[in-house]
Parts: sequence; structure tokens; C-alpha cells
Amino acid sequence: MNKLAFITGTSSGIGKATVERFSREGWKVIATMRRAERAKEFGWPDNVVVKELDVTDHDGVSRVAREVIEEHGVPYAVINNAGCSVMGSVEDTPLEDAKRVFEVNYFGTVSVIRAFLPHMREKGEGVIVNLSSVVGKSSMPLIAHYCATKYAIEGLSEALWHEVKKFGIRVIVIEPGTIKTRLINNAKVIPSTLSEGSPYGKMAKRVAELVSGGSPPEEVADVIWKAVNSKAERLRYIVGEKSSYLLLRRLLPESIFLTLAHEYFGG
Ligand SMILES: NC(=O)c1ccc[n+]([C@@H]2O[C@H](COP(=O)([O-])OP(=O)(O)OC[C@H]3O[C@@H](n4cnc5c(N)ncnc54)[C@H](OP(=O)(O)O)[C@@H]3O)[C@@H](O)[C@H]2O)c1
Repeated sequence: MNKLAFITGTSSGIGKATVERFSREGWKVIATMRRAERAKEFGWPDNVVVKELDVTDHDGVSRVAREVIEEHGVPYAVINNAGCSVMGSVEDTPLEDAKRVFEVNYFGTVSVIRAFLPHMREKGEGVIVNLSSVVGKSSMPLIAHYCATKYAIEGLSEALWHEVKKFGIRVIVIEPGTIKTRLINNAKVIPSTLSEGSPYGKMAKRVAELVSGGSPPEEVADVIWKAVNSKAERLRYIVGEKSSYLLLRRLLPESIFLTLAHEYFGG
């Protein structure tokens, strides 16, 4: 195992905490972000190499992956963390906003995997970590497209787990509950859903309450660290506040679960 990790979306939150966790453990980390100058204020040590990358720029992804392999070798851990969200009802959210979330969360992840996988396969080792969410298993209203991208990540990852197992590559899905990061503040909000007199107003207030606060991002970084360094062939890891919600989903008949969840969401 070469102790080299490649991580996307490291300017804040879980990505930043993961860079710091891996670098503290002595790994070399390729920390990618849309605006590299943001890293100057972080005071990261020399074993962190910052590279500029927008995961929706697919040529950029291929170029950066080539550079990383030439300069540092094939990363053992490729961690797809970059993500964004949009908040609005399905009827209010323009298609372009739905597509943008898919471009970042889903196609950005696919693009990074495609850039590194042939090299990892040749080496016969490595781990691909994809950030999903509790809402990749159980949807929440008014963030439907974000949930859909995470369901897509779940489907992608499980298929990939089967495809690459025989090459010595592991696939890991991280399913955080509510984590205190900039994700919610940075989410595009569709004004009509929240406007005075919106038929979704009551639900919007409740959803905003539910997604605020949460566990520190370091808790997720810790789970990523342990999962990458584990020998287990485990696919999914649940972590953080409200993640036990998924246990209820598993235990209850769907009709009962949906009725309870609907009330919980202020329906
Ligand atoms: N927070 C939660 O409750 C929670 C729960 C479950 C799963 N997650 C997942 O965890 C991951 C990290 O999110 P976070 O909570 O740590 O939120 P965050 O603090 O907002 O971090 C998201 C990161 O993704 C980057 N990003 C956005 N668009 C990008 C693009 N086109 N190319 C490259 N980077 C891009 C952001 O960079 P900029 O600074 O350039 O915008 C930022 O560094 C996401 O996949 C998210 O869906 C979060």
C-alpha cells in the first residue's frame, strides 16, 4: 500500500477534515479544490499537495489525475467527497439546478473514478471512497434532487464493488447523517418554495430545522480513515447525528415508516 490519498472538495467540511486526518497519520494527501488559494489559510503541512480541480471539468479531472500519477504515483485511496445541494420542491426547482447537482455529486464522482481506476487495476490495489448520505437510502422532501444523486451514488458504488473486487480494489460508501458543515448554507434555495403563501412553507421550515446543526466533520473523517485502513470488504458505513434513522427504515414495514416520516417532516 502506498500511503497516498486523493481527495476532492477539500476547501471545507468533511473534505478538509479528511485531508487533516490522513496527513496527521503521515500519508501524502493530494487535496483538490475549486480555488487552490483557499488552502493558504489552512496552514497544511508539506505532506499535503494542493491542486485546483472542479470535478465538473472532465478534461481537468483527466489532466490532474495524469499529473498526480506522474508526480506522486497511483493513489491508494481515491476519496470522492465534493458535493453540493439545492433546496426547493420538485415542482419549483428548475431542471438546470437539478442537473447541476447531478453534474457535481454524480458525474463528478464517475469522472474521477474513470480517471484513476485503470491505473489502480493495473497495480492490483486501492480503495475508492464515495460520499453518499443517509438520504441516499431514505429521501427527505424539498431536497429531492440531492437525495436522488445520493441514491445514484449508492447504485454506482454497489455495482462497482462487484466489478473491481477481483482486481484487489475495495469500494466504500460513507453514509453521514447531519454533519455541521457549509453544505446547507451553500445550497441554492429556490425562493418560491420558501415564499409567503407557498404550499410547501410549513414543510420547508421543518426541513430547515432538521438539516441544521449536526455532528462535527472530524467524526466522518475518522470513519473514512478507519474504513480505508480496514481489511474488511464492507461496502457501507453509517456515521453521525440522525443516522440511526436508517435503522428504523430497515426495521419497520414501509407503510408505517413512511407515515411516521411524513409527520416528522411536517407533512
Ligand atoms: N453535511 C452533511 O450533513 C452531509 C451529510 C451527508 C453527506 N454529506 C456529503 O459530504 C460531502 C462533503 O460535504 P460537506 O458536508 O463537507 O459540505 P461542504 O463543507 O459544503 O463541502 C463541500 C465541498 O465540495 C466542494 N465542491 C462543490 N462543488 C464542487 C465542484 N464542482 N468541484 C469540486 N469541488 C466542489 C466545495 O468547494 P467550494 O468551496 O469550491 O464550494 C466544498 O469543498 C458531500 O458529498 C455531501 O453531499 C454531507
